[in-house]
Amino acid sequence: MVSRRGFLTGLALVPVAYAAGCSIQPSAPASTTGTRPLPIPPLAPSTVGADGVRRFALRAQPGSTEMVRGIQTPTWGYSGSVLGPTVRARRGEQVAFTITNDLPEATSVHWHGMHVPAEFDGGPHQMIAPGAVWAPGWTVQQHAATLWYHPHPHGATEKHVQRGLSGFFLIDDDSAAEFGLPREYGVDDIPLVIQDRRFTADGRIDESDTTDVGLLGDTIVTNGITDAHLTVTTERVRLRILNGSSGRLYNLAFADGRPFQLVATDGGLLSESVALEQIQLSPGERAELLVTLRPGENVTLRSLPITDRTGVDRAAEFGFDDTFDILTLRAADALRPAADLPTALVPMTPLAAATAAPTRTFDLQWFMINNRRMDMNRIDMTIPVDTTEVWSVRNKDNWPHNFHVHDVQFQILAIDGDPPPPALSGWKDTVYTAPDTTYTLAMHFADHADPTYPYMYHCHLLHHEDKGMMGQFLVLAPGQQPAPMAMDMSGMDHG
Ligand code: C2O
Ligand code: CU
Ligand code: CU
Repeated sequence: MVSRRGFLTGLALVPVAYAAGCSIQPSAPASTTGTRPLPIPPLAPSTVGADGVRRFALRAQPGSTEMVRGIQTPTWGYSGSVLGPTVRARRGEQVAFTITNDLPEATSVHWHGMHVPAEFDGGPHQMIAPGAVWAPGWTVQQHAATLWYHPHPHGATEKHVQRGLSGFFLIDDDSAAEFGLPREYGVDDIPLVIQDRRFTADGRIDESDTTDVGLLGDTIVTNGITDAHLTVTTERVRLRILNGSSGRLYNLAFADGRPFQLVATDGGLLSESVALEQIQLSPGERAELLVTLRPGENVTLRSLPITDRTGVDRAAEFGFDDTFDILTLRAADALRPAADLPTALVPMTPLAAATAAPTRTFDLQWFMINNRRMDMNRIDMTIPVDTTEVWSVRNKDNWPHNFHVHDVQFQILAIDGDPPPPALSGWKDTVYTAPDTTYTLAMHFADHADPTYPYMYHCHLLHHEDKGMMGQFLVLAPGQQPAPMAMDMSGMDHG
């Protein structure tokens, strides 16, 4: 258990440049153009004991944030007023957390993208009551990647995330150095969470007027503030981008159309980098981009209308036609030169042949998966441990949906029978599912058998998830029988 004092001491060790982003109140004076410096979430302090376990402490708490300049908005954050510190651990390391809930209601902390024992997954079965402490721990056993953590209380995830709860969880290994990727946190390696919000006249987050894709904002918030700019001091920057919105898709591009290199998706580095001019991210998805700048120039990261509306008829209503400026990159007059652009990265061995017959199918429609809505007391399927499964996922209606699976990273074998485009050829834990399209996914359930605690699979449009577009599976060892705990669902209404 890390004491409050230890926590503050640890924080003081964080380099000044990062600590400045700590409260998310920009420390620099207002600039003439009306933008403010992009806050960089501080690195979460940690201690490594004699047992080799890296320990972190997080506190979910209410606060107030100047999301819009000059206006204080009531928000929730982890160990701060909004968002949370960036957790970092190395592959192979044991991590442990002490998570305190100082919110007025129960919440949970889910490690999105993490291969983690089901009892520590932080889904709706691991609620933390107000005032309570939760202490999960596990060994990090996966590739270097940009993951994130966020609440997962059944029926209230959208509200908790909208109020500000989410943070980055970066896994490191030797690959960033091996491939010469920018890796100086907050300098040329930038976490960037993109969210949309609507504000009431008195500066609160507007939680009314939910559309069929949930709360859609008219204002872009990056790392907790609107109208941000990033001062760039290196020829090349790595943007680790998370779509942290509840229902909005982004089609990211630079305003001058310059290409960038996509080097990683949800679960880590691609087998080779790919030059793109646009990339689409649905809620929960991540992408790591390398962008090259010339001294003194300003480049704006933008979100463009969604290409072909992905076949969604009511696209305008769902924000698909919108254009937003996301972040201005301002290059300094002298830039530190960058290493050569990497091409070959981490080879990916296919888990299954693209022609493999699916083990299971999932039909997405309305707030249902396979015609059922979430029931915390129903196990939808059991999966034998140490098996590779091939899932066929189909969006059967004309709403946008996506599909996220806990515990694993998957490979997209095929989209309507064709090989996926390069941007969808790496490790993924969340995939956008366009209407009338079938996605064939392969994933391996390596270990962590548990007859009691299920993992979730769901649409990551948080309103859909809250409304029950979610199911549960157990990973079982040979001979194990399901033994889920009965949940008291009285008072639970996701109608
Ligand atoms: Cu990011 Cu089950 O969620
Ligand atoms: Cu998840
Ligand atoms: Cu959905």
